[in-house]
Amino acid sequence: MRWLVVGALLIAVGLAGTLHAAIGYGLLLIASMLLVMGIGFLSIFLLTNWFETTRLQRAYAGAFWLGGWGYLLAVAAMSGYYLTEAMAGKVAWKYIVFGPAAIMAIAVFDIGIWRIIVKRNMPSIRRFGVFWKRETIDKPALRRTLVDEIVLHKTLFTISPFRWVRHQLIFWGFGVMFLTEILAVGFREVIPAFGLASPWEQPNHPIRLAFDFAFELTGLMMLVGCLLALAFRVRAQGGGLQKYTDTPSVVFLLAVVVSGFLTEGVRMSLATDMSGVSLSFVGLAVSSILPISAAWYDPLWTFHALLACGFIAYIPLKKMIHSCAVPIGRMLNSPTNLLSAKKTRSISGLFRQGDRD
Ligand code: HEM
Repeated sequence: MRWLVVGALLIAVGLAGTLHAAIGYGLLLIASMLLVMGIGFLSIFLLTNWFETTRLQRAYAGAFWLGGWGYLLAVAAMSGYYLTEAMAGKVAWKYIVFGPAAIMAIAVFDIGIWRIIVKRNMPSIRRFGVFWKRETIDKPALRRTLVDEIVLHKTLFTISPFRWVRHQLIFWGFGVMFLTEILAVGFREVIPAFGLASPWEQPNHPIRLAFDFAFELTGLMMLVGCLLALAFRVRAQGGGLQKYTDTPSVVFLLAVVVSGFLTEGVRMSLATDMSGVSLSFVGLAVSSILPISAAWYDPLWTFHALLACGFIAYIPLKKMIHSCAVPIGRMLNSPTNLLSAKKTRSISGLFRQGDRD
Protein backbone atom coordinates (compact mmCIF):
# COMPACT_ATOMS: atom_id res chain seq x y z
CA MET A 1 0.00 0.00 0.00
CA ARG A 2 2.84 2.37 0.97
CA TRP A 3 4.46 1.77 -2.44
CA LEU A 4 1.19 2.49 -4.27
CA VAL A 5 0.96 5.83 -2.45
CA VAL A 6 4.56 6.65 -3.47
CA GLY A 7 3.66 5.70 -7.08
CA ALA A 8 0.57 7.92 -7.06
CA LEU A 9 2.67 10.78 -5.62
CA LEU A 10 5.27 10.35 -8.38
CA ILE A 11 2.53 10.50 -11.05
CA ALA A 12 1.06 13.61 -9.40
CA VAL A 13 4.44 15.40 -9.12
CA GLY A 14 5.16 14.46 -12.74
CA LEU A 15 1.80 15.85 -13.87
CA ALA A 16 2.51 19.05 -11.95
CA GLY A 17 5.59 19.43 -14.14
CA THR A 18 8.04 19.49 -11.23
CA LEU A 19 9.65 16.06 -11.71
CA HIS A 20 12.99 15.73 -13.48
CA ALA A 21 13.33 12.96 -16.09
CA ALA A 22 16.36 11.66 -14.17
CA ILE A 23 14.10 10.50 -11.28
CA GLY A 24 12.24 8.00 -13.49
CA TYR A 25 15.40 6.81 -15.23
CA GLY A 26 17.30 6.65 -11.92
CA LEU A 27 14.55 4.44 -10.46
CA LEU A 28 14.61 2.28 -13.60
CA LEU A 29 18.38 1.87 -13.28
CA ILE A 30 18.18 0.92 -9.59
CA ALA A 31 15.28 -1.48 -10.27
CA SER A 32 17.17 -3.15 -13.15
CA MET A 33 20.28 -3.55 -10.99
CA LEU A 34 18.20 -5.09 -8.18
CA LEU A 35 16.52 -7.53 -10.57
CA VAL A 36 19.88 -8.56 -12.03
CA MET A 37 21.21 -9.02 -8.48
CA GLY A 38 18.12 -11.13 -7.65
CA ILE A 39 18.82 -13.38 -10.65
CA GLY A 40 22.48 -13.60 -9.56
CA PHE A 41 21.61 -14.57 -5.95
CA LEU A 42 19.02 -17.12 -7.12
CA SER A 43 21.56 -18.66 -9.53
CA ILE A 44 24.15 -18.94 -6.73
CA PHE A 45 21.46 -20.50 -4.52
CA LEU A 46 20.46 -23.11 -7.10
CA LEU A 47 23.77 -23.88 -8.80
CA THR A 48 26.36 -23.77 -6.02
CA ASN A 49 26.94 -24.51 -2.35
CA TRP A 50 28.32 -21.03 -1.74
CA PHE A 51 27.07 -18.84 1.13
CA GLU A 52 24.56 -19.55 3.85
CA THR A 53 21.15 -20.72 2.56
CA THR A 54 18.77 -18.49 4.55
CA ARG A 55 20.83 -15.38 3.87
CA LEU A 56 20.82 -16.12 0.15
CA GLN A 57 17.05 -16.73 0.23
CA ARG A 58 16.54 -13.40 1.95
CA ALA A 59 18.90 -11.72 -0.54
CA TYR A 60 17.19 -12.93 -3.71
CA ALA A 61 13.66 -12.50 -2.35
CA GLY A 62 14.49 -8.97 -1.17
CA ALA A 63 16.18 -8.03 -4.45
CA PHE A 64 13.22 -9.29 -6.53
CA TRP A 65 10.69 -7.58 -4.27
CA LEU A 66 12.47 -4.23 -4.20
CA GLY A 67 13.36 -4.49 -7.91
CA GLY A 68 9.72 -5.20 -8.82
CA TRP A 69 8.44 -2.21 -6.86
CA GLY A 70 11.28 0.00 -8.11
CA TYR A 71 10.28 -0.89 -11.67
CA LEU A 72 6.62 0.06 -11.02
CA LEU A 73 7.70 3.35 -9.39
CA ALA A 74 9.92 4.10 -12.39
CA VAL A 75 6.95 3.56 -14.72
CA ALA A 76 4.83 5.86 -12.50
CA ALA A 77 7.48 8.59 -12.49
CA MET A 78 8.03 8.39 -16.25
CA SER A 79 4.28 8.31 -16.99
CA GLY A 80 3.71 11.57 -15.08
CA TYR A 81 6.77 13.23 -16.61
CA TYR A 82 6.09 12.25 -20.23
CA LEU A 83 2.35 12.99 -20.01
CA THR A 84 3.22 16.56 -19.03
CA GLU A 85 5.82 16.81 -21.82
CA ALA A 86 3.32 15.40 -24.36
CA MET A 87 0.61 17.85 -23.29
CA ALA A 88 3.11 20.67 -23.73
CA GLY A 89 3.67 19.47 -27.31
CA LYS A 90 7.30 18.45 -26.66
CA VAL A 91 6.93 14.77 -27.63
CA ALA A 92 6.74 13.54 -31.23
CA TRP A 93 3.48 11.66 -32.03
CA LYS A 94 5.31 8.41 -32.72
CA TYR A 95 6.62 8.35 -29.12
CA ILE A 96 3.14 9.20 -27.83
CA VAL A 97 1.92 6.03 -29.56
CA PHE A 98 4.96 3.93 -28.65
CA GLY A 99 5.20 4.77 -24.89
CA PRO A 100 1.77 3.46 -23.80
CA ALA A 101 2.08 0.50 -26.24
CA ALA A 102 5.39 -0.52 -24.65
CA ILE A 103 3.98 -0.28 -21.12
CA MET A 104 0.91 -2.31 -22.11
CA ALA A 105 3.03 -4.95 -23.85
CA ILE A 106 5.27 -5.37 -20.80
CA ALA A 107 2.20 -5.56 -18.53
CA VAL A 108 0.57 -8.27 -20.70
CA PHE A 109 3.91 -10.15 -20.76
CA ASP A 110 4.39 -9.94 -16.97
CA ILE A 111 0.80 -10.93 -16.14
CA GLY A 112 0.85 -13.75 -18.72
CA ILE A 113 4.10 -15.19 -17.37
CA TRP A 114 2.80 -14.91 -13.80
CA ARG A 115 -0.44 -16.73 -14.67
CA ILE A 116 1.10 -19.50 -16.75
CA ILE A 117 4.37 -20.15 -14.95
CA VAL A 118 3.64 -19.27 -11.31
CA LYS A 119 -0.13 -19.44 -10.73
CA ARG A 120 -0.70 -22.59 -12.77
CA ASN A 121 2.15 -24.39 -10.96
CA MET A 122 1.18 -23.21 -7.47
CA PRO A 123 -0.51 -26.53 -6.55
CA SER A 124 2.70 -28.44 -7.42
CA ILE A 125 4.86 -25.87 -5.63
CA ARG A 126 2.64 -26.19 -2.52
CA ARG A 127 2.66 -30.01 -2.60
CA PHE A 128 6.29 -30.64 -3.44
CA GLY A 129 7.97 -27.38 -2.42
CA VAL A 130 8.70 -28.68 1.10
CA PHE A 131 10.87 -31.43 -0.43
CA TRP A 132 12.91 -29.04 -2.58
CA LYS A 133 15.70 -28.25 -0.17
CA ARG A 134 18.85 -26.54 -1.35
CA GLU A 135 21.08 -29.23 0.20
CA THR A 136 19.33 -31.99 -1.75
CA ILE A 137 19.48 -30.29 -5.16
CA ASP A 138 21.83 -32.13 -7.51
CA LYS A 139 23.78 -29.03 -8.53
CA PRO A 140 26.10 -30.64 -11.09
CA ALA A 141 23.01 -32.06 -12.86
CA LEU A 142 21.33 -28.67 -12.78
CA ARG A 143 24.45 -26.94 -14.18
CA ARG A 144 24.71 -29.59 -16.90
CA THR A 145 21.07 -29.08 -17.92
CA LEU A 146 21.55 -25.31 -17.98
CA VAL A 147 24.50 -25.57 -20.35
CA ASP A 148 23.48 -28.61 -22.46
CA GLU A 149 19.74 -28.14 -22.82
CA ILE A 150 19.13 -24.43 -22.37
CA VAL A 151 22.25 -22.75 -23.76
CA LEU A 152 23.38 -25.32 -26.33
CA HIS A 153 20.18 -27.34 -27.02
CA LYS A 154 22.35 -30.46 -27.38
CA THR A 155 19.41 -32.89 -27.59
CA LEU A 156 17.94 -30.98 -30.53
CA PHE A 157 21.34 -31.14 -32.25
CA THR A 158 21.45 -34.92 -31.89
CA ILE A 159 17.96 -35.15 -33.43
CA SER A 160 18.60 -32.78 -36.35
CA PRO A 161 21.48 -30.32 -36.93
CA PHE A 162 19.22 -28.38 -39.34
CA ARG A 163 16.51 -27.89 -36.71
CA TRP A 164 19.24 -26.99 -34.21
CA VAL A 165 20.75 -24.29 -36.48
CA ARG A 166 17.34 -22.68 -37.17
CA HIS A 167 16.49 -22.63 -33.45
CA GLN A 168 19.91 -21.43 -32.27
CA LEU A 169 19.82 -18.55 -34.77
CA ILE A 170 16.37 -17.46 -33.57
CA PHE A 171 17.14 -18.07 -29.87
CA TRP A 172 20.51 -16.27 -29.75
CA GLY A 173 19.44 -13.56 -32.19
CA PHE A 174 16.38 -12.74 -30.09
CA GLY A 175 18.09 -13.18 -26.69
CA VAL A 176 21.17 -11.09 -27.48
CA MET A 177 19.15 -8.37 -29.25
CA PHE A 178 16.85 -8.16 -26.22
CA LEU A 179 19.81 -7.72 -23.82
CA THR A 180 21.49 -5.27 -26.24
CA GLU A 181 18.31 -3.16 -26.35
CA ILE A 182 18.16 -3.04 -22.52
CA LEU A 183 21.80 -1.85 -22.43
CA ALA A 184 21.10 0.61 -25.26
CA VAL A 185 18.32 2.22 -23.19
CA GLY A 186 21.03 2.96 -20.61
CA PHE A 187 23.30 4.73 -23.13
CA ARG A 188 20.55 6.30 -25.27
CA GLU A 189 18.10 7.48 -22.55
CA VAL A 190 19.44 7.13 -19.00
CA ILE A 191 22.89 8.79 -19.35
CA PRO A 192 21.51 11.88 -21.23
CA ALA A 193 18.62 12.14 -18.67
CA PHE A 194 21.31 12.79 -16.03
CA GLY A 195 22.72 15.59 -18.20
CA LEU A 196 25.85 13.57 -19.07
CA ALA A 197 27.44 13.18 -22.51
CA SER A 198 26.66 9.72 -23.89
CA PRO A 199 28.73 7.78 -26.44
CA TRP A 200 25.36 7.21 -28.14
CA GLU A 201 25.44 10.79 -29.44
CA GLN A 202 28.86 10.23 -31.10
CA PRO A 203 28.35 8.14 -34.28
CA ASN A 204 32.00 7.03 -34.48
CA HIS A 205 32.41 6.15 -30.81
CA PRO A 206 33.47 2.46 -30.43
CA ILE A 207 30.60 1.82 -27.99
CA ARG A 208 28.06 3.21 -30.47
CA LEU A 209 29.62 1.20 -33.31
CA ALA A 210 29.51 -1.96 -31.16
CA PHE A 211 25.78 -1.40 -30.54
CA ASP A 212 25.14 -0.85 -34.27
CA PHE A 213 27.00 -4.04 -35.12
CA ALA A 214 25.20 -6.06 -32.41
CA PHE A 215 21.78 -4.95 -33.71
CA GLU A 216 22.71 -5.80 -37.31
CA LEU A 217 24.15 -9.21 -36.45
CA THR A 218 21.33 -10.33 -34.13
CA GLY A 219 18.68 -9.07 -36.58
CA LEU A 220 20.36 -10.98 -39.40
CA MET A 221 20.54 -14.13 -37.24
CA MET A 222 16.79 -13.95 -36.61
CA LEU A 223 16.09 -13.24 -40.28
CA VAL A 224 18.05 -16.32 -41.43
CA GLY A 225 16.65 -18.45 -38.57
CA CYS A 226 13.05 -17.51 -39.48
CA LEU A 227 13.63 -18.22 -43.19
CA LEU A 228 15.08 -21.64 -42.28
CA ALA A 229 12.07 -22.25 -40.00
CA LEU A 230 9.72 -21.45 -42.90
CA ALA A 231 11.68 -23.83 -45.16
CA PHE A 232 11.40 -26.51 -42.43
CA ARG A 233 7.65 -25.88 -42.22
CA VAL A 234 7.23 -26.33 -45.98
CA ARG A 235 9.13 -29.64 -45.74
CA ALA A 236 7.19 -30.76 -42.65
CA GLN A 237 3.75 -29.72 -43.96
CA GLY A 238 1.15 -32.38 -43.19
CA GLY A 239 3.70 -34.82 -41.68
CA GLY A 240 4.62 -35.86 -38.17
CA LEU A 241 7.32 -33.17 -37.92
CA GLN A 242 4.78 -30.36 -38.19
CA LYS A 243 4.22 -30.45 -34.43
CA TYR A 244 7.78 -29.10 -34.00
CA THR A 245 6.87 -25.90 -35.82
CA ASP A 246 5.25 -22.66 -34.70
CA THR A 247 4.66 -20.84 -37.97
CA PRO A 248 2.53 -17.93 -36.61
CA SER A 249 5.38 -17.00 -34.22
CA VAL A 250 7.97 -17.32 -37.00
CA VAL A 251 5.95 -15.07 -39.35
CA PHE A 252 5.34 -12.54 -36.54
CA LEU A 253 9.06 -12.42 -35.65
CA LEU A 254 10.02 -12.18 -39.33
CA ALA A 255 7.66 -9.19 -39.76
CA VAL A 256 9.30 -7.46 -36.75
CA VAL A 257 12.80 -8.03 -38.14
CA VAL A 258 12.00 -7.06 -41.75
CA SER A 259 10.13 -3.88 -40.72
CA GLY A 260 13.11 -3.02 -38.46
CA PHE A 261 15.61 -3.33 -41.30
CA LEU A 262 13.32 -1.35 -43.63
CA THR A 263 13.03 1.46 -41.05
CA GLU A 264 16.81 1.49 -40.63
CA GLY A 265 17.32 1.53 -44.41
CA VAL A 266 14.99 4.53 -44.85
CA ARG A 267 16.71 6.39 -41.97
CA MET A 268 20.09 5.82 -43.62
CA SER A 269 18.90 6.92 -47.04
CA LEU A 270 17.65 10.17 -45.56
CA ALA A 271 20.79 10.85 -43.50
CA THR A 272 23.06 13.62 -44.72
CA ASP A 273 25.96 12.66 -42.43
CA MET A 274 27.03 9.08 -43.17
CA SER A 275 29.83 8.94 -40.59
CA GLY A 276 29.65 6.00 -38.23
CA VAL A 277 27.46 3.76 -40.38
CA SER A 278 30.25 1.45 -41.52
CA LEU A 279 29.11 -1.48 -39.34
CA SER A 280 25.40 -1.12 -40.14
CA PHE A 281 25.82 -3.42 -43.12
CA VAL A 282 22.22 -4.61 -43.50
CA GLY A 283 20.81 -1.07 -43.19
CA LEU A 284 23.31 0.12 -45.81
CA ALA A 285 22.34 -2.67 -48.20
CA VAL A 286 18.62 -1.94 -47.73
CA SER A 287 19.13 1.81 -48.21
CA SER A 288 21.00 1.19 -51.46
CA ILE A 289 18.08 -0.70 -53.04
CA LEU A 290 15.09 1.09 -51.52
CA PRO A 291 13.13 3.80 -53.36
CA ILE A 292 13.12 6.51 -50.70
CA SER A 293 10.59 8.98 -49.46
CA ALA A 294 11.09 10.97 -46.25
CA ALA A 295 7.34 10.60 -45.61
CA TRP A 296 7.81 6.86 -45.01
CA TYR A 297 10.11 7.11 -42.05
CA ASP A 298 7.71 7.95 -39.16
CA PRO A 299 4.92 5.56 -40.26
CA LEU A 300 7.46 2.74 -40.77
CA TRP A 301 9.11 3.48 -37.40
CA THR A 302 5.72 3.40 -35.65
CA PHE A 303 4.62 0.22 -37.46
CA HIS A 304 7.85 -1.54 -36.48
CA ALA A 305 7.70 -0.32 -32.85
CA LEU A 306 4.07 -1.47 -32.48
CA LEU A 307 4.85 -4.86 -34.05
CA ALA A 308 7.78 -5.33 -31.63
CA CYS A 309 5.53 -4.44 -28.66
CA GLY A 310 2.89 -6.82 -30.04
CA PHE A 311 5.44 -9.65 -30.18
CA ILE A 312 6.44 -9.13 -26.52
CA ALA A 313 2.76 -9.23 -25.49
CA TYR A 314 2.16 -12.30 -27.69
CA ILE A 315 4.91 -14.41 -26.04
CA PRO A 316 2.81 -15.69 -23.08
CA LEU A 317 -0.38 -16.03 -25.12
CA LYS A 318 0.50 -18.82 -27.56
CA LYS A 319 3.21 -21.42 -28.24
CA MET A 320 6.01 -18.86 -27.70
CA ILE A 321 5.45 -19.37 -23.95
CA HIS A 322 7.78 -22.36 -24.43
CA SER A 323 10.74 -19.91 -24.40
CA CYS A 324 10.06 -19.40 -20.67
CA ALA A 325 8.27 -22.64 -19.71
CA VAL A 326 10.61 -25.18 -21.35
CA PRO A 327 13.81 -23.96 -19.59
CA ILE A 328 12.05 -23.98 -16.20
CA GLY A 329 10.57 -27.43 -16.85
CA ARG A 330 13.92 -28.85 -17.92
CA MET A 331 15.69 -27.38 -14.90
CA LEU A 332 13.03 -28.78 -12.55
CA ASN A 333 13.25 -32.20 -14.15
CA SER A 334 17.03 -32.37 -14.38
CA PRO A 335 18.15 -33.12 -10.83
CA THR A 336 16.90 -36.62 -10.29
CA ASN A 337 16.26 -35.85 -6.63
CA LEU A 338 13.61 -33.26 -7.51
CA LEU A 339 11.80 -35.90 -9.49
CA SER A 340 12.29 -38.46 -6.76
CA ALA A 341 10.97 -35.94 -4.22
CA LYS A 342 7.85 -35.72 -6.32
CA LYS A 343 7.62 -39.52 -6.49
CA THR A 344 8.30 -39.94 -2.75
CA ARG A 345 5.57 -37.45 -1.98
CA SER A 346 3.09 -39.15 -4.32
CA ILE A 347 3.94 -42.62 -2.98
CA SER A 348 3.76 -41.52 0.66
CA GLY A 349 0.43 -39.87 -0.19
CA LEU A 350 -0.80 -43.20 -1.59
CA PHE A 351 0.37 -45.02 1.51
CA ARG A 352 -1.34 -42.51 3.78
CA GLN A 353 -4.45 -42.99 1.69
CA GLY A 354 -3.99 -46.76 2.17
CA ASP A 355 -3.58 -46.30 5.94
CA ARG A 356 -6.89 -44.47 6.03
CA ASP A 357 -8.57 -47.22 4.01
C1 HEM B 1 15.92 -21.92 -23.40
C2 HEM B 1 14.93 -21.59 -24.07
C3 HEM B 1 14.29 -22.37 -25.17
C4 HEM B 1 14.13 -23.72 -25.36
C5 HEM B 1 14.60 -24.83 -24.45
C6 HEM B 1 13.43 -23.89 -26.61
C7 HEM B 1 13.08 -25.10 -27.16
C8 HEM B 1 12.41 -25.28 -28.36
C9 HEM B 1 12.12 -26.52 -28.96
C10 HEM B 1 12.50 -27.89 -28.37
C11 HEM B 1 11.46 -26.29 -30.12
C12 HEM B 1 10.99 -27.33 -31.14
C13 HEM B 1 12.18 -27.45 -32.10
C14 HEM B 1 12.25 -28.75 -32.83
O1 HEM B 1 11.99 -29.79 -32.22
O2 HEM B 1 12.67 -28.72 -34.00
C15 HEM B 1 11.35 -24.85 -30.28
C16 HEM B 1 10.75 -24.20 -31.34
C17 HEM B 1 10.76 -22.83 -31.52
N1 HEM B 1 11.35 -21.90 -30.70
FE1 HEM B 1 12.24 -22.28 -28.93
N2 HEM B 1 13.19 -22.66 -27.15
C18 HEM B 1 13.70 -21.71 -26.30
C19 HEM B 1 13.69 -20.33 -26.47
C20 HEM B 1 13.22 -19.69 -27.58
C21 HEM B 1 13.33 -18.25 -27.81
C22 HEM B 1 13.94 -17.24 -26.85
C23 HEM B 1 12.78 -18.04 -29.02
C24 HEM B 1 12.73 -16.72 -29.75
C25 HEM B 1 11.96 -15.81 -29.77
C26 HEM B 1 12.30 -19.29 -29.54
C27 HEM B 1 11.64 -19.44 -30.74
C28 HEM B 1 11.17 -20.65 -31.25
C29 HEM B 1 10.41 -20.77 -32.46
C30 HEM B 1 9.99 -19.61 -33.37
C31 HEM B 1 10.16 -22.14 -32.64
C32 HEM B 1 9.40 -22.77 -33.80
C33 HEM B 1 10.36 -22.91 -34.97
C34 HEM B 1 9.67 -23.40 -36.24
O3 HEM B 1 8.47 -23.14 -36.44
O4 HEM B 1 10.36 -24.03 -37.07
N3 HEM B 1 12.60 -20.27 -28.65
N4 HEM B 1 11.93 -24.27 -29.19
